[in-house]
Amino acid sequence: MDIHTNIPLKNFTTMKLGGNARFMTEVRTPQEVADVYNSAKAQSLPMFILGGGSNVIARDEGFNGIVARMRIEGFDIIADDAASTTIRIGAGENWDSVVKRTVEMGLSGIEAMSGIPGTAGATPVQNVGAYGQEIADTLISVDAYDSITNTFGVLSAADCNFTYRDSIFRSDAKGRYVITAITLKLSKNQPQPPFYEALQKYFDEHNMHIFTSQIIRDIVIQIRNSKLPNPATTPNTGSFFKNAIIDKWQVDGLKAINPNIPMYEMADGTYKIPAGWLIENCGLKGQLLHGVRVYENNALVLVNESATSYLDLEMARNEIINKVRDTFRVQIEQEPLEI
Ligand code: EPU
Repeated sequence: MDIHTNIPLKNFTTMKLGGNARFMTEVRTPQEVADVYNSAKAQSLPMFILGGGSNVIARDEGFNGIVARMRIEGFDIIADDAASTTIRIGAGENWDSVVKRTVEMGLSGIEAMSGIPGTAGATPVQNVGAYGQEIADTLISVDAYDSITNTFGVLSAADCNFTYRDSIFRSDAKGRYVITAITLKLSKNQPQPPFYEALQKYFDEHNMHIFTSQIIRDIVIQIRNSKLPNPATTPNTGSFFKNAIIDKWQVDGLKAINPNIPMYEMADGTYKIPAGWLIENCGLKGQLLHGVRVYENNALVLVNESATSYLDLEMARNEIINKVRDTFRVQIEQEPLEI
């Protein structure tokens, strides 16, 4: 295992900000994960596992520990029957390549999550979701290294405690587990309408009535390209804010002032309000704040145009959060994790 010293995190995160990692290495097997954790423990250094860096913000002070880049590969069919195929995927696999491969196999379940940057192992952390699917819908289990007990184990989907853009991996058990593989059960049936609003609108407008995973993938990629800047060329981390979740008692007050405010009732009786709408409707869409642009095509996305430090991003973020709060009395929060 090669260990490198003083590596700029801005080169490994798509927001292109932040200081240095004191040490950086790559892990290619679960055993290498255990080895690097044990070596960090022996030196009393903190650990951080980095996937594609497309949902992680690095701070200016950098990371005074070991950053391990997840490179575990694997794509193995572990069960197959008339209705479904179950696949175990190495955490370091590129997520979109995995989606593409399953779509080419004629499987359904993750095709609406096409075009999402990053690694497969990162998807359970914030319960990645897009266009009506989320990883919690198809995930059976994750293989994980437990850094507290120094053992390898399997967590079921129920153990992961998935909710909207959240799981135990970024809440109760933050920093404890390293996901080394994910196991997904995908369907051999083709996707069925009704679809997520933006997709359904596209199908209706184009008079489309036949739906395959490949068609969903192609259209999702088309819609994404029109709304989301490519992190490979334009520094950003996708949605910078989570959509707001509010209680029913707050709904009437908001509707009274803003009759057009979009909201979606959730299974648990709370309501989801698109943060993009809130940001746009307090006049921030397209604005440049401290070198950070509120993206013209989607106010939920912040693009690093000329910010030179995390501090710039922090100031822009706080101004947006405060303006939304002062205008609508709704609190929004950052979606990407911080190292
Ligand atoms: N909206 C606005 N103005 C904007 C952006 C959105 O009014 O600038 C409104 C739209 O008109 C629509 C509503 O907000 O009524 C919802 O918009 P959209 O369907 O585009 O989805 P979203 O809630 O903005 C979420 C995810 C995206 C995911 C899309 C599609 C979160 C934080 N974001 O965005 O995920 O691609 O749904 O399913 O849940 C990501 O996490 O990085 C990401 C891109």
